[in-house]
Amino acid sequence: MSWNEYYAAHTMTAEAAAALIHSGDRVVVQHACGEPSHLLDAMVANAAAYENVELVHMVAMGRAEYAQPGMETHFRHNALFVGGTTRAAIAQGRGDFTPCFFSDVPGFFETTLPVDVALVTVTPPNEDGKCSLGVSVDYTLAAVKHAKTVIAQVNRNMPFTHGPSTVDVTDIHCFVPFDAPIIPLAPPKIGPVEEAIGKNVAQLVRDGDTLQLGIGAIPDAVLKFLTEKKDLGIHSEMFSDGVVDLARAGVITNARKTLHPGKYVATFLMGTQKLYDFADGNPNLYLAPVDYVNDPFVIAQNDNMVSINSCVQVDLMGQVASESIGPMQISGTGGQVDFIRGAARSRGGRAIIAMPSTVKGKTSKIVSVLDAGAAVTTCRCDVDYVVTEYGIAHLKGRTLRERARSLIQIAHPDFQDGLKAEFERRFQTAY
Ligand code: COA
Repeated sequence: MSWNEYYAAHTMTAEAAAALIHSGDRVVVQHACGEPSHLLDAMVANAAAYENVELVHMVAMGRAEYAQPGMETHFRHNALFVGGTTRAAIAQGRGDFTPCFFSDVPGFFETTLPVDVALVTVTPPNEDGKCSLGVSVDYTLAAVKHAKTVIAQVNRNMPFTHGPSTVDVTDIHCFVPFDAPIIPLAPPKIGPVEEAIGKNVAQLVRDGDTLQLGIGAIPDAVLKFLTEKKDLGIHSEMFSDGVVDLARAGVITNARKTLHPGKYVATFLMGTQKLYDFADGNPNLYLAPVDYVNDPFVIAQNDNMVSINSCVQVDLMGQVASESIGPMQISGTGGQVDFIRGAARSRGGRAIIAMPSTVKGKTSKIVSVLDAGAAVTTCRCDVDYVVTEYGIAHLKGRTLRERARSLIQIAHPDFQDGLKAEFERRFQTAY
């Protein structure tokens, strides 16, 4: 049977595909903006037919209806990262959170999380019978390889991306043609605080550096302040529209990269149509699985690797809480530690945690101790630079006393007196 015949024979409606999911199955859903929303809608519409289907998903950018009240007996969400649409489900016990480094996730499909069904979005097949996983390769390629049943929404709006991001038509068990816009992520709002943070981070970035940009408003905002740099490169878990602007301005060229020179390397993309148009068929984009892109030993092969991530709180020892507010899980480790460790091993590398000094002006994000129950994402031995709108604290290789002093210097002035009093209690010396 030719691949065209195979494709035609395995094409069906979303309703027919949903009937291939069974009670008790573990279903892995493609990450972030690659989410096959039409398949999820059909699965949720068929909820009455299922009991205890486990949905393994990382950032759920769609409506996550399977995690809403009333769905508990049908679906159980297993979040590898908690996002805006799934925070309530985890906080209210309708789902679970699995702590993980993003780079470890593909391996779970061979160990603790064997996959029954993978729900993915692909491009229509090319002339060689290959479909691209488009904007999200990450753990999705491994899910396709390991799932007993692979159900694909074939969406002509999905960019065909280059790199090890394609699957053969025969790797997929059923095709559901359905065009929909790729889920957009709006560019972050940049106010005076983000601007000041961006300017401070820019001081740590040198011409020829290779950048990783984390998730959230701050890492993307930083790009706006790099317009004077030259020959920057990208090796990042993800990137967004800001990279397209700097590429068009000739600031990001990837020319001096020591690994994959000339290429934008990432494992997934989140942005607007501008980014997706940039990605479609771009021979300079290398979208690869997360166990390659986020492997600290791969990252470290980039000289002058600079990682830029954000967090929730930093304590005076330099412990970084990035994923929970006290015990409440609000996101995940993602690639933060993968990249901080990769940057640490890179020749000339720097790892930056950048954050506003306060939560909406009300409480300090630099604290004497983390909120009770908070998860430490980046430990005090891994932390390198911490940046706020008030400056830069370099912590790596510094004593606890030096760390506390430099963190207090970049705390919001309204909270410095309290932190200084804690310093004097803890170190038995005047600040
Ligand atoms: N105390 C109380 N609430 C806090 C807080 C704190 N110390 N810090 C943040 N919050 C709240 C915010 O007010 C916001 O609440 P809202 O949604 O009600 O407005 C919410 O937590 C999210 O914070 P915000 O700063 O708006 O998020 P962001 O989109 O800028 O993302 C992180 C920041 C830390 C959540 C994000 O960078 C992250 O998940 N990091 C960990 C993973 C990572 O670094 N991955 C990188 C590789 S992709």
